[in-house]
Amino acid sequence: MILAPLRGVTVRRFRLTFGGIARECGFTEAVTPFIPAMRGLDPLKDAELAGGGAKEPLETVPQFIGKDPSELRRCAARVREAGYAHADLNCGCPFPMVVKKGRGGGLLRSPDALAKMLEAGCEAFGPGAFSVKTRLGVESPRELLRLMPVFNAFPLRRLVVHARTVKQMYSGECDLDAFREAAAVAKMPVVYNGDVDLAVGPGGIAARLPSSRAEGWPLVMCGRAFVRFLGARSDSPGLLDGYIRDSLSEGASPGAVLGRMKELLSYWAALPAWAEVWSKAKKARSLDSFCEAVFAKA
Ligand SMILES: Cc1cc2nc3c(=O)[nH]c(=O)nc-3n(C[C@H](O)[C@H](O)[C@H](O)COP(=O)(O)O)c2cc1C
Repeated sequence: MILAPLRGVTVRRFRLTFGGIARECGFTEAVTPFIPAMRGLDPLKDAELAGGGAKEPLETVPQFIGKDPSELRRCAARVREAGYAHADLNCGCPFPMVVKKGRGGGLLRSPDALAKMLEAGCEAFGPGAFSVKTRLGVESPRELLRLMPVFNAFPLRRLVVHARTVKQMYSGECDLDAFREAAAVAKMPVVYNGDVDLAVGPGGIAARLPSSRAEGWPLVMCGRAFVRFLGARSDSPGLLDGYIRDSLSEGASPGAVLGRMKELLSYWAALPAWAEVWSKAKKARSLDSFCEAVFAKA
């Protein structure tokens, strides 16, 4: 399994703190939340990579977002020189400002621009080392099938498909039929993403997916369920305490840590053990009062 990028949640410190647990669950790598491949920005100075990826428990795959092939080439070469074996291109971010500018999910609207980005990434990283994370389409779930010849023209490591459209954002059902249709014509390994639960039973999504055609490539990418799983563990208060300490010890300001912890706890809010704590913790205006709300009960 691959840990999905969740901007503001699966940040570098999260991956360092919880990557060991993720390994125990069967995750082998983590794609970073997106890093802009834009003029004047050094990806190695981005908070997602600063400090290096080598010590993370899971393999770190830097994910880029952008639409300028020369900037992608520059950024990809930079992380490759720094020792990252793989990198990824975001072709699925649904935020209207991003899509409007032709980045993220907006790349799906322009096959020419998409092809130039794929060419740049594959050239910079070499065959079989550069991957893509995308959605089923912008408006319709059948768009990806029409775009498959573009993806198939490049030696991609894999294509991760979040089985929703850009328009759906994060709501509504995943479309497994549309996913299957695109996967059936793909020349590269295709990885399923969207609402995968860690407790996969016979009726779960994984059981309804096409089995892998080549051994050794991961079947699914999972994000929010792993974050919820952390909150469901009996040692979750201790995990949270450790995460706060780790974040402060690397120099994050209490205000920034408060924001990060509230974001994390919002994923735990629906769990019976956390519902009451969350109702108090979300109102906290300082890290101290947040900790009071959270750990008073623990
Ligand atoms: C808060 C949040 C931030 C996200 N950030 C990114 C991102 O930086 N890059 C990306 O490709 N997808 C991003 N996604 C999408 C997830 O990686 C994933 O595709 C989506 O959550 C569906 O998978 P899941 O149901 O397993 O969480 C984000 C999703 C959420 C909810």
